[in-house]
Amino acid sequence: MPAVPYQELKPPQRVLLGPGPSNVHPRVQQAMAAPLLGHLDPYFLTVMDDIMSLLRYLFQTSNQLTFPISATGSAGMEAGLCNFLEPGDVALIGVNGYFGERLVTVAQRCGAEVIRLDAEWGHIVEAEAIEDAFKKQRKVKLLALVHAETSTGVLQPLIEASRLARQHGALLLVDAVTSLGGHELAIDDWGIDICYSGSQKCISCPPGLSPITVNQKAMDTLKKRTSPIASFYLDLSLLAKYWIAEGGRVYHHTAPACLFYAFHEALALIAEEGLKARIQRHARYGAALQAGLEAMGLTLHAQPGHRLNTLTTVRIPDGVDDARIRQRLLSDYSIEIGGGLGTLKGKVWRIGLMGYSSSEQNVLLVLSALEKLLAEEGYRTKTGAGVGAAVRSLRS
Ligand SMILES: Cc1ncc(COP(=O)(O)O)c(C=O)c1O
Repeated sequence: MPAVPYQELKPPQRVLLGPGPSNVHPRVQQAMAAPLLGHLDPYFLTVMDDIMSLLRYLFQTSNQLTFPISATGSAGMEAGLCNFLEPGDVALIGVNGYFGERLVTVAQRCGAEVIRLDAEWGHIVEAEAIEDAFKKQRKVKLLALVHAETSTGVLQPLIEASRLARQHGALLLVDAVTSLGGHELAIDDWGIDICYSGSQKCISCPPGLSPITVNQKAMDTLKKRTSPIASFYLDLSLLAKYWIAEGGRVYHHTAPACLFYAFHEALALIAEEGLKARIQRHARYGAALQAGLEAMGLTLHAQPGHRLNTLTTVRIPDGVDDARIRQRLLSDYSIEIGGGLGTLKGKVWRIGLMGYSSSEQNVLLVLSALEKLLAEEGYRTKTGAGVGAAVRSLRS
């Protein structure tokens, strides 16, 4: 026996309905057990080629620079900002939740002068506010918006923002960590210059990869930089020498091969389902969940008309113990949901229906479990109201 105590590894099976990760398809799980290959193995390079073309389909783009960064969604955020912002550059950043705040922090660490576009947590950043900010401030280099604010459940409109960015000569950067693969997002048609996401949400792959896409206009800006990019690991020009075959691939970092396999399968599953059908599936189950929660007398937090299908924020009723409900969902039903983040801590629950987790079974399961546990906390609701409304929504 080793001197150090340890336990046999036996993680429980969970229904992952939090803000991410989501559950993975068995094919994705299985892919991780495939034989390990070196990061320049000829077969492995073909896996990388597939990943890039499948990602272009998912992002709806023809951008050459479209690949996953070997790190979580936050790395996509850092890469998106540190490559395109130099000290002294002006960045306009929408802040209507926790991840907007993080964009501000990262942009400031890049030395940028940040102009915040604050909106209430639970509301969108209005196009008028973006337009006013552009008019007041000359020489904005980059506008950054969170498409799906995971802390509030809000879906940010992007088309008008993109027009404004173009009109004022700024790049548009979009955080699509909780929307890519679950909501409509058309990089080329919508004129988005830089966009990143995470592998663990609507793509339903384990966490650890951050797909990013960058158009030619943004790459041209990169070439005009006067100062070197502070990060070696996230320098997109260096990463491109590993990912993009022109002139032969060169080592940049040791790629996490098993994660790439999983990502390949997760992207292949999206192509097989069809992007349109997948987005419709997220809309269908998101609507059913929201109908069920409202029928239970609960209040949805996000602004009507701008709610995510992939993640729903619901206010915790007075007198109900936030932590106890989430703990009992986990212990009695093996269901994970998320608590509130930042200023919404203790005020909302966050229920994700992303990727493989977005299913009819999960909608009905979480509504019925929640109803029973809320009743035990003394919250009054008509028995079966939530499931009944969800079933009606699914039928319609
Ligand atoms: C909108 C948004 N941006 C960025 C991130 C950061 O991603 P990660 O936790 O994978 O680093 C998250 C994570 O939940 C997110 O929801």
